Amino acid sequence: MSFERQKTFFIETFGCQMNFHDSEKVAGSLVSQGYRQVQSIEDADLIFYNTCSIRDKAEQKVFHRLAEFKRLQKQGKKFAVIGCVAQQEGERIFERAPHVSLVAGSASYRRLPEMLVQIGRGERATGLNDRDTEETFETEFTARTNPHRGYITIIEGCDKFCAYCVVPYTRGRERSRTSESVLEEARRIVAGGATDGGLTEIQLLGQNVNSYRDPLGRRSFAELLAEVGELPGIRRIRFTTSHPRHFNREIVAAIDAVPTLCDHVHLPVQSGSSRVLAAMAREYTREQYLERIAWIRAAKQRSIAITTDVIVGFPGESDAEFEQTMSLLEEVQFDGVFSFKYSPRPNTPAIAMENAISEEEKTSRLAVLNDRQREIQRANYAHYVGQVLEAMVEGYQSARNQIAGRTSQNKTLNFTVPDGYAVPEVGSYAQVRVTRAHPNSLVGEMVCAPEVQSAQPDCAVIVI
Ligand code: SAH
Ligand code: SF4
Ligand code: F3S
Repeated sequence: MSFERQKTFFIETFGCQMNFHDSEKVAGSLVSQGYRQVQSIEDADLIFYNTCSIRDKAEQKVFHRLAEFKRLQKQGKKFAVIGCVAQQEGERIFERAPHVSLVAGSASYRRLPEMLVQIGRGERATGLNDRDTEETFETEFTARTNPHRGYITIIEGCDKFCAYCVVPYTRGRERSRTSESVLEEARRIVAGGATDGGLTEIQLLGQNVNSYRDPLGRRSFAELLAEVGELPGIRRIRFTTSHPRHFNREIVAAIDAVPTLCDHVHLPVQSGSSRVLAAMAREYTREQYLERIAWIRAAKQRSIAITTDVIVGFPGESDAEFEQTMSLLEEVQFDGVFSFKYSPRPNTPAIAMENAISEEEKTSRLAVLNDRQREIQRANYAHYVGQVLEAMVEGYQSARNQIAGRTSQNKTLNFTVPDGYAVPEVGSYAQVRVTRAHPNSLVGEMVCAPEVQSAQPDCAVIVI
């Protein structure tokens, strides 16, 4: 019998929700191989660095961080670089950071167990050539770290090739999981168990969830969404990201019909100018985008919040075209906007486009956009004052003596609990009366009136 000490690992993660969820899956794989997850670099034998290359000088940041790791090599630690920068930079990472033992992109994570054996033998391991795969990374060992939300990847990769974006190069071809496998994972999450936490909120993930195609042809995306929402024990279903090109009325009808589907759609527009959208290869016009907004607004039973992503300063974007983005914001009155300065990325067609916009101009357009959107949100959020909304408890803010909650519309709703009542647990739901509104969050107090007590067991418990 061997008494060898159990090997430990630490994962540091950057990027989108898919990347964070990938880390949960990678951690699960490592645990299934006998490793133990630790919460600090100091305690780890193996350090995983899960990287993002969507914007800015992501590569430089990664190499800088890897240089910091170098001194730890003397302590016998090993380093693995995974994610989008790993895929993009490939073997160059070994050249510039020779202390790294493993480099792998997300399409190769299925092969982690064999890569771990290789590095255990003192060899280098790479996972860079699997981007054309049809296979997905199944998740029987996922080590979920989010205490209130279970993520499920339904589609990996992206085939859209927007002119500015690295994702199709870093994450490979689009490949959907079978709807059976997604439903099975959702059931496991709700039921709880050793690795899946007994959660009531699920978020379906993909760079482009509307392109979901069940390999067995059983369910459309909207059908899958509705079926996950109808599983016993589920309280909230979210999904991201929707691409406007494939967003359809069936999805709105599903939200309207199934109460657990949240009142929120994230629908990235990128620009309000059809000329710029064509140059970005987004495959829809301003008018088509607005048509989708009208579908969402026409939901009969629900008030669905809409958020978006915008890029300012794409090559060739004129003042008038930027104004079209501003007028789109005015027209739609988004509940939230993630705004970015265009950032030239390696391998993408946009990097070679003429008429680059200066950094100064991009900065100024971004500020104009953010200022206006803040005012739009100030008015939007003010509408909720006086209403009672359901908030899921996501955590505690002891400094402000508040509970951090989130509404179905995905708005932050921080609230207090009246004296004498029990503080609800993370992952539970509370009815909250909104008392104040800020441009990015709501503030309120938990309602403990007798008529809401049945929906809210915590209200019945007096703790003094
Ligand atoms: N698949 C999603 C999200 C992709 S990345 C979608 O298609 O909407 C998230 C956001 O980052 C994008 O929506 C876009 O607004 C922004 N982004 C991507 N590449 C960028 C780049 N090169 N420069 C600036 N912003 C970028
Ligand atoms: Fe990037 Fe476009 Fe794919 Fe989104 S749809 S990940 S922006 S290429
Ligand atoms: Fe970043 Fe890759 Fe996600 S580039 S945003 S981690 S898909």
